[in-house]
Amino acid sequence: MLVALAGLAVGCASDAPQDVLDPAGPYAEQLDSLFVPVFWVAVAVFVVVEGLIVYAAIRWRRRGDDDDDGEIPVQFHGSTKLEIGWTILPALVLGLVAVFTIPVVFDLDAKPEGALEVSVTGQKYWWGFDYPAGQDPYGIDEGIVTANELHIPAGEPVYLTLTSPDVIHSFWAPRLNGKRDVVPGRTHTWSLEADEPGAYSGQCAEFCGASHANMRLKVVAHDPQSWEQWVEGMQRPPSPPEAGAAAEGFELFQQRGCAGCHRIEGAFEQVAEDSPPAPDLTHLFSRDCFAGCIYDLTDRAELEAWLRDPQRKAGSLMVIGELTEDDIDALYAYLETLE
Ligand code: CUA
Repeated sequence: MLVALAGLAVGCASDAPQDVLDPAGPYAEQLDSLFVPVFWVAVAVFVVVEGLIVYAAIRWRRRGDDDDDGEIPVQFHGSTKLEIGWTILPALVLGLVAVFTIPVVFDLDAKPEGALEVSVTGQKYWWGFDYPAGQDPYGIDEGIVTANELHIPAGEPVYLTLTSPDVIHSFWAPRLNGKRDVVPGRTHTWSLEADEPGAYSGQCAEFCGASHANMRLKVVAHDPQSWEQWVEGMQRPPSPPEAGAAAEGFELFQQRGCAGCHRIEGAFEQVAEDSPPAPDLTHLFSRDCFAGCIYDLTDRAELEAWLRDPQRKAGSLMVIGELTEDDIDALYAYLETLE
C-alpha cells in the first residue's frame, strides 16, 4: 500500500508542469524556502506525536493475564502539567513558524520597483490580460490586450492587478508564485517573475462554475530579443484581408455576429454594449492555445471543432449557429491572418 502510494506520488512529480516544489522565479523560491523548513518541523511533530501514541498503545495494551472482573479501572482527572505543556508547546512552534512566514507575506504583497504592469480579468472561463500603455522600459507605448497567455520578459518583475466581473477565481502559476484570489468588486494585486525564458502553465484555483477545470493559463517568459518582437507584433494590428477565403471569412465574422462580442483592432473595434465578455482576437494566432488555454491553437482541427460546436466547453457563452464546412474554412482563413 505504502509502496503504491509512494509510486503514485513520484509518478505525479516527474515532469509535472505545475510543480510547486520546482520554483522558477524569486517569488516562488521565497515560498519554497518557507515550505521546506515548515515541512520538516511538521515531520518532527508528527514523529513525536505518533511515536507517543504507538508507545502508549503498546505499553498499556490489554494483556492475556489481565483479570477481567468487569470492574472499571481507577479513574482520575487529567494532568495540569501535561495540559499546560501541550498548550504552550504548539503555540511556540506556531510562533516560530510565524516569525518566518509573516515577513514573506508582506514581501510578496509589496509592489516591486520598475515592474511590468498587467491587468488581469478572470472571466467565465478564460483570462483577459491588459497591458496599459506608456510602459517605456518595456517598449509598450500602446496598450496591449490579449487572453489566456500572459507574456512577460524573463528576469523582470511583473505586477498584476486582478479583478473579476462576476464570480471568484484564483490566479495560479505554481512555478512563479502562489495563488491569489480574483474577487468581483475588489482589486487584488500579485507579482510574478520567471528567471529563465520558457512557458509556465497555470490554472484557476478557485471553483468558479461549470468550466472551472477548463480555466487554464500559460505564462510565456521571453528573452530580451523575443520580448521586443512580441511587443512590436502586438502593437501592430493586422490589416483586414482584401481577397480570397480570408476576405470571405472576414465577411462571415461580421454576418454571424462574432464582431458583436470579439474585438479585433483595425477591423471590428466596437463590440455591442450588452455583449458577454469574449477574448480579444486581434492577435489570436500569436497564441498557442484558446478557450481558457484548453485547446491547442497550433492544431487546426481543434479550432475547426470549436467553430463547429463552441459548446464543447461547458459554460461557453459563444453562439455561432450552424456553419457549413466552407464557412468554417473561410472563418479559419480569416482568423489565421490575426497574428
Ligand atoms: Cu475560474 Cu475556477
